[in-house]
Amino acid sequence: MSKISAAITAVGGYVPEYVLTNKMLEDMVDTNDEWITTRTGIKERRILKEEGKGTSYLAIKAAQNLIDKSGIDPLEIELVIVATATPDMKAAPTSAYTATQIGAKNAFSFDLEAACSSFLYGMSVASKYIESGKYKKVLLIGADKNSSMINYEDRATCIIFGDGGGAVLFEPNQEGLGLQDEFLRSDGIGRDFLQAKYGGSSYPSTPEAIKNHEHQVFQDGKTVFKNAVFNMADVAVKILERNKLTVNDVSWLVAHQANKRIIDATANRIELEEEKVMMNIQKYGNTTSATLPLLLCDYESKLKKGDNLIFAAFGGGFTWGSIYLKWAYNS
Ligand SMILES: CC(C)(COP(=O)(O)OP(=O)(O)OC[C@H]1O[C@@H](n2cnc3c(N)ncnc32)[C@H](O)[C@@H]1OP(=O)(O)O)[C@@H](O)C(=O)NCCC(=O)NCCS
Repeated sequence: MSKISAAITAVGGYVPEYVLTNKMLEDMVDTNDEWITTRTGIKERRILKEEGKGTSYLAIKAAQNLIDKSGIDPLEIELVIVATATPDMKAAPTSAYTATQIGAKNAFSFDLEAACSSFLYGMSVASKYIESGKYKKVLLIGADKNSSMINYEDRATCIIFGDGGGAVLFEPNQEGLGLQDEFLRSDGIGRDFLQAKYGGSSYPSTPEAIKNHEHQVFQDGKTVFKNAVFNMADVAVKILERNKLTVNDVSWLVAHQANKRIIDATANRIELEEEKVMMNIQKYGNTTSATLPLLLCDYESKLKKGDNLIFAAFGGGFTWGSIYLKWAYNS
């Protein structure tokens, strides 16, 4: 019998209706549309405004979209992984609530957190369950309500982040399609440069910390930018070399959407033409765990069975990596 690989067989996505444009940000902080567009490529982002709705709302909507499109029976799903950096609550996984709400009553579930690399790492984990031969349907959801941890008085962060959710279904494949190789890394040096310091176990939140916005995201953008540019390009090159792929073999670059200049730098490093670079940062900004599956949703109709996709991501921690996946279906 041929080897079992883990293929993506369905995708779904969801973004909230509320649109926060660059123009609206001009009234909130000292910035302008021209600066944001040229420095990041972002024009607008979506924000989940409704009180009491958290990341699970985005995750459930994305998963329901996948279920509706694919016709899969939720009772057949065996594992639900929610990749997120903004769980609904502490001590209660977002995944368990999400799985129950979508009717995946026969599944076990867990959250996976690796900042903006959460979904990429989740692809690695989800595929291992499939490759083991023990599981046949693993639902991987990436969702983040970033607006819950952003200070909308800080122009260094509020222009970048948005909210959203995306989902993919992994199933066994014996035609050699699906996940081929991965190159994943992390370096704890990064946490000084991108973090929400208060509200975790090291520094539980205090009224003083909240007053100073220290429970919200702080970012040294320049340092994060430099590390993202170097490392995302480096792992993309490594995964191509290791799999003896030339740039002509690459159908699509599916890169984390944090800054268009970081994505362009990765594409330039592997000398990939612009038409093969998936891009939706202009509409959504950085949606953390949702960016990769939202790209797949936006480009699903263009993807063909056998296409070689190179995923690349970089995030807080630092965490980063690249995955080589062969697309498994025509839509
Ligand atoms: C945040 C980021 C867009 C800032 O862009 P940058 O080119 O590095 O800009 P700098 O921080 O060097 O700032 C350049 C100038 O623009 C100003 N500036 C910063 N944010 C601004 C804003 N929103 N609007 C207008 N001006 C701004 C700075 O104060 C600085 O002014 P100065 O030269 O007078 O000091 C960029 O660093 C970035 O994208 N970093 C990585 C983000 C990322 O990937 N984060 C998530 C990891 S997954």
